[in-house]
Amino acid sequence: SEDRRITRVKELIKDYPDFPKPGILFRDIFPVLQDAKAFRGLVDAMVDFIKANCDGVEVIIGLDSRGFLFGPMIAEALGISFVPIRKAGKLPGETYKVEYTLEYGTDKCEMQKESVKPGQKIVILDDLLATGGTMKAACDLADVAQATVLCCVVVIELTDLQGRKRLKYPCHAFIQY
Ligand code: PRP
Ligand code: ADE
Repeated sequence: SEDRRITRVKELIKDYPDFPKPGILFRDIFPVLQDAKAFRGLVDAMVDFIKANCDGVEVIIGLDSRGFLFGPMIAEALGISFVPIRKAGKLPGETYKVEYTLEYGTDKCEMQKESVKPGQKIVILDDLLATGGTMKAACDLADVAQATVLCCVVVIELTDLQGRKRLKYPCHAFIQY
């Protein structure tokens, strides 16, 4: 029994061949946010999944930048904390930093030290899992903070890139290509 809310999201995701580079098929999630009913349905489906599968979650971690589209709404609906992981140089105060690999070269991301307490149960959220480099870096930051990662949650997984293999925590995707 397919979730009609997710079927609707699939209909709205728009594909752009050769963006931002030749050979990349870009999956644009923004048309979903342009349809209030579809966006509501997606957020509700994500909240339902977390309620059913991530018992005792205390913090939703959202990844820069498209994880910020869903994370705060989901945290608010669950009545729990939202914490961002940002690309390096954007967060003030004491931070944990990790370097991660992209298709070409490396990047760095950070999380504020006081934002997650040791032992806190967290869910890490993003719009899309591709090579898994970004999600793996987030998991590494969670490990450094001694948080307990219950699950990684993404709207879209690009299965050919096998990003899931790089993650040591369970990962749920609502849509797979
Ligand atoms: C995209 C996407 C994920 C990441 C996935 O973000 O939103 O965060 O790539 O790729 P990976 O699994 O290969 O790491 P991007 O870096 O394009 O930045 P943006 O969210 O600021 O657009
Ligand atoms: N981030 C990494 N790969 C992507 C893709 N193919 N579409 C949208 N966002 C992405």
